Amino acid sequence: MKPKWWKESVVYQIYPISFKDSNGDGIGDLKGIISKLDYLQELGVNVIWLSPIYKSPGHDNGYDISDYCDIMEQFGTMEDFDRLLQDMHSRGMKLMMDLVLNHTSHKHPWFIESRQSKDNPKRDYYIWRKGKNGGPPNNWESYFSGSVWEYDEQTDEYYLHLYSKYQPDLNWSNPVVIDELHNMVEWWLKKGVDGFRFDAISHIVKAEGLPDADNPHQTKTVRAYEMFSNLENVHTLLQNLHDKVLYYYDIMTVGETSGLGPEQALDYVGDGRRELNMTFQFEHMFIDAASSGSGKWNVVPWNLLELKKIISNWQNVLHDRGWNANYWCNHDQPRSVSRFGNDVLYRVPSAKMLATFIHTLEGTPYIYQGEEIGMTNIAFESIDDYRDVETLNYYEEQRDNGVPEEEIMQALRKRSRDNARTPMQWDTTPNAGFTKRTPWIKVNSNYMEINVADALNDPDSIFHYYKKLIQLRKQHKVIVYGRYKLLLPLHSEIYAYTRTLDNDQLLVILNFFEREPLFELPKDVSPEGMELLISNYPPEKNEDLCKLKLRPYEARVYLQRLPKSANEQ
Ligand code: GLC
Ligand code: CA
Repeated sequence: MKPKWWKESVVYQIYPISFKDSNGDGIGDLKGIISKLDYLQELGVNVIWLSPIYKSPGHDNGYDISDYCDIMEQFGTMEDFDRLLQDMHSRGMKLMMDLVLNHTSHKHPWFIESRQSKDNPKRDYYIWRKGKNGGPPNNWESYFSGSVWEYDEQTDEYYLHLYSKYQPDLNWSNPVVIDELHNMVEWWLKKGVDGFRFDAISHIVKAEGLPDADNPHQTKTVRAYEMFSNLENVHTLLQNLHDKVLYYYDIMTVGETSGLGPEQALDYVGDGRRELNMTFQFEHMFIDAASSGSGKWNVVPWNLLELKKIISNWQNVLHDRGWNANYWCNHDQPRSVSRFGNDVLYRVPSAKMLATFIHTLEGTPYIYQGEEIGMTNIAFESIDDYRDVETLNYYEEQRDNGVPEEEIMQALRKRSRDNARTPMQWDTTPNAGFTKRTPWIKVNSNYMEINVADALNDPDSIFHYYKKLIQLRKQHKVIVYGRYKLLLPLHSEIYAYTRTLDNDQLLVILNFFEREPLFELPKDVSPEGMELLISNYPPEKNEDLCKLKLRPYEARVYLQRLPKSANEQ
């Protein structure tokens, strides 16, 4: 397997609006990020994925771009950006931009022109159609509730938006649009950025003729999903982008591509495909969503065997042929410790266990801001405290459908994207040290117990555990490149696997729940010479690795040198 810097990296995602406010307007900003680079360096991450900082009216916190080559005023200036990039580079850190190529803001000058008249030169930058039978052109459903079509009086036509109506989709069948976007990507590369996370990239191509979808009961994702996801032509367009622009730079790319399994992912990330380095897959993000009802909002208990099946499949299929991006959380998902761990009784051990998983799989680990101190979901009492456009649209739609208020609020507490978007908890001063004034969204009230300052002072904190995991990755190539093998495939509480590279073998044992199951070392793994690299509980005296009673959410990682012959078999 070819070694690459982006395979050996650990990525930290910053959601700028909630990271650190430097000027007291309640909104995180670039200077705030600069002031926390020491902290990130201390943690040991070497790549920052920066959620969008481009000029934007902010209907979707920057995922609605109105100028690709400028900075959102609230976040600062281009000088601030340049300084951030420089400060990062001088520390040996790399910057991965989040780029939205599927759509722009409705305030983008292209769209402002496009909506003027049917013969405007920019008309075809977007997707316009006449209505059908007094309604929208087809029955596709938007990610953020309602139709994907918005009627525009000015020209008596509809424009398509897969997300909110403030995010019109660009028309990737127009070569002029493609040229504009290529030039813009190149502009950022010339500035020296080190990579891109391509937002919603699997949706840039829509089915020919935009036909109605005939699966009104599709769940989990939105209706008509297959009409605009992972279509063949996406690959042609990505190869084109790669060959014309990306190829000339030593960068890291990751695509947001929902709705695919590893075999399909190889079309994006397979060696020799000339598209992307890795993609974010979503299969494990649906293990706790009902297969009927209103998709992601309908939370059900999840099952470890399903997680094993999904992850093992990705590990096995991509090994030696592509590369994984491993994550539990980001700005679109609930907090990982609240969702997959236990944020009441076992917050610390379960957060450490979850971290162990992400950092010991094959692939690049992604940490979402606050995950490294075990930040939790929020439980806002009132809809007025929520800010996210998806959340607000969903709330309104459900209200219109007559769903009782409390039922909707329950769903929001589990699933709203705002769970991950409350301000970073830095210390115990008012507003968790995020801002000197009123934050744009409420701070989680648990910041007196959960904050960076305390985490730094406590050698047993989740933070220090992450730091150690990141160091171990730098020391042991087997953590990066080792081949994964699932152990105990049918155990419903313990997730265990080995990773093997040459004569090094890693053994990872994770108790995913709070009971205390017995771990029995499979016969084909020898306990000889096992060195404990990291664990979230102190080991007990005289314990026997062949029969180990695990404590709640216990995680252990061992390293072993295999005798030469064992590996050659
Ligand atoms: C992606 C982003 C999400 C955003 C959407 C529209 O899914 O991660 O935050 O709302 O695209 O740009
Ligand atoms: Ca600010």
